[in-house]
Formats: sequence, structure tokens, C-alpha cells
Amino acid sequence: MNQPTAYHDGLGDFFAKHADTSPYNAYTDRPAMLRLAGNVSGAEILDVGCGAGHYAAELSARGARVVGIEGSATLLRHAQARVNGDAELLLHNLEEPLDFAADTSFDGVVCALVYEHIRNRMQLLGELRRVLRPGGWLLVSTTHPTADWRHFGGSYFSHDWRDLPLGDSKLSIHYQRMPLETFLGELLAAGFVLEQLIEPRPTDGLREIDEAAYDRLHRAPSFLAVKLRRP
Ligand SMILES: C[S@@+](CC[C@H](N)C(=O)[O-])C[C@H]1O[C@@H](n2cnc3c(N)ncnc32)[C@H](O)[C@@H]1O
Repeated sequence: MNQPTAYHDGLGDFFAKHADTSPYNAYTDRPAMLRLAGNVSGAEILDVGCGAGHYAAELSARGARVVGIEGSATLLRHAQARVNGDAELLLHNLEEPLDFAADTSFDGVVCALVYEHIRNRMQLLGELRRVLRPGGWLLVSTTHPTADWRHFGGSYFSHDWRDLPLGDSKLSIHYQRMPLETFLGELLAAGFVLEQLIEPRPTDGLREIDEAAYDRLHRAPSFLAVKLRRP
């Protein structure tokens, strides 16, 4: 049987705390993705793999109506506490079709640092295309392929599944590394059109609290983020 990829139990609790303040999530990925989202007031947004609800809470605060879906009951509890009724949250395994959602029911989809965890990615992309209205946007962030290459070594072109330890926690996350060609190629093959690609760097706020992390993340990329449109 395949190793689970959702962050259950202790891993979920650890990630919820980590995502709050970590240089990677709080200062690099999230600010960049929220900038890509732009003005979301009045938009219907699907937050795919919503984790502890950091995106759902922020997008709701900016006036969007958000549905968050997540495969870990532990993280869904954290998300519920964070959004405090301001977003709809559902337990959902992303390897399964999005049966709860009607065709063309969302203006935007946020998929932050989840893509690399999914095995049946073409099915998920087909479903995201189905539930997005024509002209709707899809934001996807992922681990930068060169960050994986630096960390795991071997071939840049490898598609192997890896376990990445989280800090000193003795916990690790399980995901598939992939070259840029695969990441972007799959999104384009699913019928999306690329609008913007960025390599997020930390915001200035990080320099004040952790200058070493700020410098490190300005030297070597950690994430890649894209904005695509459904034609
Ligand atoms: C790195 S976290 C990102 C969470 C959130 N998007 C954020 O940026 O704060 C990856 C998330 O994907 C979820 N996940 C991984 N595999 C999943 C699956 N098969 N079904 C649903 N959720 C999954 C994990 O439980 C975790 O919440």
C-alpha cells in the first residue's frame, strides 16, 4: 500500500505551528501566492489541501468565499479553529474526484505546496479544470526542483518519492520530486494556460527576525509558483 501523503496526527500538529511562522511558509510561499491571487473580493475560491487554514482565513478576510479541502482530520481541526466559520471546510482525499463541486462553480483555485504530494495528478487537474469557470485562475506552488536536487542529490531529472525531515521534529513529509519540465508540462497538458511564473523570495519582515534565513532564501530558491488560466 502507498504511504499516506496527508499530514495526519503529530505531523499535522507540527505543520500547523510551523506554517504560522516558518521562513518558508509564512514569509516566502504565502505572501508570494497571495500577491499572485490579487484582488479576491467577492470571488469563490477552492483551497486545495488547505492545511491549517492559513490561506482560507486570509482569503476570507480579503472578501472571498472559500471552500477548503484537506485530507488530514488533524489539520482540518486546526483550519476550523483558524477560519472560525468564515470558510467551508471539507475532509477530502485529493486522489478522489471532487464530487462535492458542480462544474464551473469557482472563480479561482489555490493549491499551495500540495501538488508534489499527489499521485493521481492528471485526474486532480482535470477536476480543477471542470470546477473552474472559463477564465478562472489556478495558483500552484511547489518545492523548487533545484532545491530538491540540492537536498537529495542524484539526477535533477529524477521522479522518485522522497521523505523530507521537518526540522528537528523526527517527522517527515512524503512527496515526489520532479523536474520543471514535468511540473509545468502536466499543468499545460491539462489544458491550462500559463500566465505568470515566479521563484518566491522571502519578504523584508523575515530579515528583522531571522537574517540568516533571509539571506539563505535569497541565495537559493525554495519554491516555484505559477498562475494559470482555464481557457
Ligand atoms: C505543505 S502542506 C500545505 C498546506 C497549505 N496549502 C499551506 O500552504 O499552508 C501540504 C498539505 O497537503 C495535504 N495533503 C497531502 N496529500 C493529500 C491528499 N492525498 N489529500 C488531501 N490532502 C493532502 C496535507 O495534509 C497538507 O495539509
